[in-house]
Amino acid sequence: MDRHLKTSSEKTALIWEPNNPNEEPKHISYKELHRNVCRFSNVLKSLGVKKGDRVCLYMPMIPELTVAVLSCARIGAIHSVVFAGFSAQALQDRINDSECKLIITADGSFRGEKVLNLKSIVDEAIQYCGSIEHCIMVERTKAEVNLVPDRDLLWCELMNESNDYCDATEMESEETLFILYTSGSTGKPKGVVHSIAGYMVGAEYSFRNVFQYQEGDVYWCTADIGWITGHSYVIYGPLLSGATTVMFEGVPSHPDYGRFWEIVDKHKVNIFYTAPTAIRALEAQGLDFVTPYKLDSLKVLGTVGEPINEEAWQWYHTHIGKEKCPIVDTWWQTETGGMMIAPLAGITKLKPTYATLPLPGVQPCLVDDKGNEIQGLNVEGNLCIKYPWPSMIRTTYGDHNRCKEVYFSAYPGKYFTGDGCKRDADGFYRITGRVDDVINVSGHRIGTAEVEDAINQHQEVVESAVVGFPHSIKGQGIYAFVILSKIEFNPNEICSQINELVKKHIGPIARPEKIQFVSGLPKTRSGKIIRRILRKIASGEINNFGDTSTLLDPEVVDLIVDSRNLTISK
Ligand code: WT7
Repeated sequence: MDRHLKTSSEKTALIWEPNNPNEEPKHISYKELHRNVCRFSNVLKSLGVKKGDRVCLYMPMIPELTVAVLSCARIGAIHSVVFAGFSAQALQDRINDSECKLIITADGSFRGEKVLNLKSIVDEAIQYCGSIEHCIMVERTKAEVNLVPDRDLLWCELMNESNDYCDATEMESEETLFILYTSGSTGKPKGVVHSIAGYMVGAEYSFRNVFQYQEGDVYWCTADIGWITGHSYVIYGPLLSGATTVMFEGVPSHPDYGRFWEIVDKHKVNIFYTAPTAIRALEAQGLDFVTPYKLDSLKVLGTVGEPINEEAWQWYHTHIGKEKCPIVDTWWQTETGGMMIAPLAGITKLKPTYATLPLPGVQPCLVDDKGNEIQGLNVEGNLCIKYPWPSMIRTTYGDHNRCKEVYFSAYPGKYFTGDGCKRDADGFYRITGRVDDVINVSGHRIGTAEVEDAINQHQEVVESAVVGFPHSIKGQGIYAFVILSKIEFNPNEICSQINELVKKHIGPIARPEKIQFVSGLPKTRSGKIIRRILRKIASGEINNFGDTSTLLDPEVVDLIVDSRNLTISK
C-alpha cells in the first residue's frame, strides 16, 4: 500500500459493488484504503493484537474485509479468513485449530434475496472458543444482534476513536502472512500457511504476467475472499500491482442472470476472472441475459477452480469475449498460493480446456502410480511439481508432519498436487481432475471424509461412503451411499436429517445432491472401501467394474446397482 502512495495515491484501489444494484458502489482510492488500514491497524493494536497473533475473519464481501486483511498484514498478525458460508461448527473448528484471539464479523450478509445472520453464527461458534477475547462487528444489514458487553465491539465506534498513523511492523520474509483452511482426502481441514515475501512475490508476479495487466486496467475477480482465489486475486495480486480491483458483494443471479455483465459495463472492466461453474450456470440461462450489454471494455478473460469443459469455454469466448479476448485457464491450488500452469494472455497459444504451459520458473512433471516420472508427449499421470516456487505452502498450521505426509511423501522429493493431468503433443497441460478423495463442487474443495463424518453423526446411520459424480453446472455433485441400522425408516425424513447434519457440521455447500440407501459397501478384505466402483455407480455406469476379485463380497456391487431406485435427490 505504502509504495503506491508515492505515485498513485488518488487512484482507485477498490471498486465495491453492493448486492443491491440500486445501492451506490464505492470507489476507494489507495490513499483512503491506506488510511483505513492504518486506522484499523491501530484498533487491532489497542485490543492487544500483536505480531504472530491469529485473527479470524468471518465476513461478507464488503470493503471492511479487505481493510481487515491488510491491517492484520500491516501489524504482522496472521489472518485466517473463513468463508462466510461455513457453519458455526466449521468456524469453531478453524478458530480453535489456530487459537485465534479475535474474530471480525458483520451483523449479517446480503446474498441475492437472502440475508445471512453472521453474528448469530459467530455467537454460536465462539461459545466454545476459549482463545477468543473480542469480536468486532461491522454493521451491514442492521439485523438485530446480541452484543455481549466487553467482548463485542462495533467496527464504526472503534474506527472513529482510532487514528490515521500506523507504521507497518517489520517482519522476516519467512514469517507467516496468513492461514487458510482447506479440505483434503482425510481428516479435518488443514490450515495452509503462507509466508510473507514468497506469497506476495507469487501473487504479484502471476497477476501481472498471466493477465498481462496494463496500468489503468480495471480488473474484476468474482471469487469470495474466503477462498484462496479471493486472497491472491481480489486482494494481494492486484493491490500489490497498484491495480483497480472490483469487489462484488452479491451473487450472479441477482436481480437477474445478467448481473455480471451489467457490472462489467458499469465499471468498464478490462480483465474478468471467474469460475467455470459460474459460466455454465449463466450459459444455461440463455443469451437474453447477455445481449443487452456491450462488454466492449473486456480485453482478457480468466477461469479458475475446476476443469473447464469445451462447451463452456466456447460460449465464454464467443459471447462474452466476442472472440477477441484470450481466455486464461489458470490451474493452481490453495497450497500453491498463486497460479502455476496458465497461459500468458495474448502470448501463449490457447487451446480450449488446457491450462497450457507452466509459468516461467514452475516445473511440473507427471508421475505414474509407482512414482516413476513419465517423460515425453501425449502422456497422462499424476501431477507433481519438481522444484519449489516462491508462494508454495510453508506448513500446515500446528502440524508440520501432516504437511510432509500429505504433499511430499507420495512421491519423495516432489510436491504432489492430488490432480491427474495430460500432456499433449505440444507439451500443453490439461488438468483432468482430482485423483484423491476430494470432490470439487462448483470450484469448492470438499473432502469426502468430512462429509462422511457428518453423515455418520446420524444415530441410525451405520456407515456411509461419499463420492463425486459429474454435474452439468457444478462440475461435480456429492453422492452419498448410506447404510441404515434398520430398513423401516422413512427415507425422505432421514435424507433431510442427513442434509441438516451436513449443513450443521460443514455448511450448505457440502450437502449431498443424491443419497442412496444400501445394505453394504464394496470393501476389500482389509476393510477398505473401493470408491472406484462407487464413483462408477454414481455416474450411472453400471457395467465394467474392472477387477472385483479383491472384494470381500462381490455380490454387494449387484445389490447396490439394483437398489439405485432408492436414491433420493436434493
Ligand atoms: C483444486 C484446488 C486455485 C484456486 C481455486 C481452487 C482444481 C483449480 C483448475 C483449473 C482444472 C483446477 C484442481 C486443484 N483446479 N484450477 N484451471 N483446471 N482444475 O483452489 O480449493 O485449493 O482447489 O482445484 O483440482 O487441485 P482449491
